[in-house]
Amino acid sequence: MCGIIGIVGREPVAGHLVDALKRLEYRGYDSAGLATLETGGVLTRRRAEGKLRNLEIRLAKEPLEGVIGIGHTRWATHGAPTEANAHPHATKRVAVVHNGIIENFRELKDELIAAGHHFESETDTEVVAQLVDRKMELGMSPADAVAAALKRLTGAFALAFLFSGEEDLLIGARRGSPLAVGWGTGEMFLGSDAIALAPFTDRVAYLEEGDWVVVTRAGAVIHDETDAIVQRPIVTVSAAAFQVDRGNYRHFMAKEIHEQPEVIGHTLAHYLDLTAGCIRLPVTPSFDWASLDRLSIVACGTAYYAGLVAKYWFERLARLPVEIDVASEFRYREPPLPKNGLALFVSQSGETADTLAGLRYCKAHGQHVAAVVNVPTSSIAREADVVFPTLAGPEIGVASTKAFTCQLAVLASLAVAAGRARGHLGIDDEKRLVRALGDLPGLVVKTLRLEPRIVRLAREIAKVEDVLYLGRGSSYPIALEGALKLKEISYIHAEGYAAGELKHGPIALIDEVMPVIVIAPFDAIFEKTVSNMQEVAARGGRIILFTDSRGAAAASVPTLETIVLPDMPSEIAPLVYAVPVQMLAYHTAVLMGTDVDQPRNLAKSVTVE
Ligand code: F6R
Repeated sequence: MCGIIGIVGREPVAGHLVDALKRLEYRGYDSAGLATLETGGVLTRRRAEGKLRNLEIRLAKEPLEGVIGIGHTRWATHGAPTEANAHPHATKRVAVVHNGIIENFRELKDELIAAGHHFESETDTEVVAQLVDRKMELGMSPADAVAAALKRLTGAFALAFLFSGEEDLLIGARRGSPLAVGWGTGEMFLGSDAIALAPFTDRVAYLEEGDWVVVTRAGAVIHDETDAIVQRPIVTVSAAAFQVDRGNYRHFMAKEIHEQPEVIGHTLAHYLDLTAGCIRLPVTPSFDWASLDRLSIVACGTAYYAGLVAKYWFERLARLPVEIDVASEFRYREPPLPKNGLALFVSQSGETADTLAGLRYCKAHGQHVAAVVNVPTSSIAREADVVFPTLAGPEIGVASTKAFTCQLAVLASLAVAAGRARGHLGIDDEKRLVRALGDLPGLVVKTLRLEPRIVRLAREIAKVEDVLYLGRGSSYPIALEGALKLKEISYIHAEGYAAGELKHGPIALIDEVMPVIVIAPFDAIFEKTVSNMQEVAARGGRIILFTDSRGAAAASVPTLETIVLPDMPSEIAPLVYAVPVQMLAYHTAVLMGTDVDQPRNLAKSVTVE
């Protein structure tokens, strides 16, 4: 999603703005731009299609002066990713950068055109610049003009404004999309997250919903949505939040895959008491697991698949009925929610617009609201009644890897806690499961050692156009996740199916070309999956089996390749089997030569519906 940076500085800012935008590249974008005030306070812009490199080339030819400026990476929503649609959008009085969507832009645009304004782009953002310009034209100060314009906007946004002739003024606003204010020494910053501000300051205040802020070199004055001046706490952001270098890895995704033993262990340490053999939740929930009637899990993409694994765990271990939805469908279906229901939102970024909207729907409908999130300062974390953190550290690769397995680690711990509280697990069951969870980092280390085999397999996958992933039970969501990972970073078409569904349609696709990847740890339903593999083999299909030593011995089906993972209790298998499907997608994408960390069309933090 779009990235925002603003600097009221003491030295030329163009280079610093570009550096900050580089730190925001992980969010995904398809054009970029800067605006500064050059000599005499003249508003000047440079914008370019595509990657930041193009903007740098442009700046090398046509440098931008000025000690105050704003910058933006744009992930196109309204209008193609062209230079004309790139931010900042500007009039002669004001420039603006924007993350989010202005829903009523058409109505505002018609009104402004009728008032004599001319538009240069197809974007929703340009109406914000024109609207503020209009107010200033009528004699308002920049702050009054922004305050008045904000009241006309509907939608979700973070905005940063720069004004012609105002060499000590930036204005920021937040509704729906996050915006942080950073305090430096004699200089001040605005950024879409603390990572953008990392080289400049670790002293940050996060704007609340509806806030807008006037930033000068002397500090910041924050207003709430009623325009009253308010104080927001300035926090010191931990150094860990800034660890965004690739180390010795070629891609962030590779680094993040290999970090999993460490971050899963770190996350579990917050939930498990390994000495006592029990779960100790890091926060006391504001609800009682024992009396819950239903759990509703809501999330998007990979986080949704983590929720789907959790459905199997909560139903099996805690006998707690679970409904699960993709967030974009959830609230529009207006689901009836039980009196004593818990709604659980799973999100790496904590900013996904659909998930956040689902959370607000559940709050309004009297549910207990809990969240499993990786960014503790995010909107979802701040709006949930109770937060169960994943401690994966910043995830920069657009394709989620370590956040997924950490989400699973947290969800498994919660399911065991719920199972105990609801009387379906005894002390010994809990001890056994806690021990199994405690073994996870070691099992992931062993699984990562399979990488050379996976690289060889990737050479086969890189040759094909379609791949089918199959799994049963809690391996079914891992099949879905494997297919999602492969398609999003290698652009090879892949589908995940419940193995038992094969004969209801996808079996028609089986031929001697398309690989069929089967996720099948040796568990209670292993034999059922073997029957489905036989159906594939009988039609000449090429099977790649991920299983364990018992599965490899018991599978009486010819395979193109059998990858043997360590033996482990079946409850924790989804966490470990996630790793080879991540590695397979990664190495296939590397062979295909795609942009692994920033795949085309994708954004890291999806703050639009
Ligand atoms: C896929 C991926 C996405 C995200 C989804 C939700 O690799 O990363 O599918 O899982 O956009 O994002 P969060 O977890 O930030 O809510």
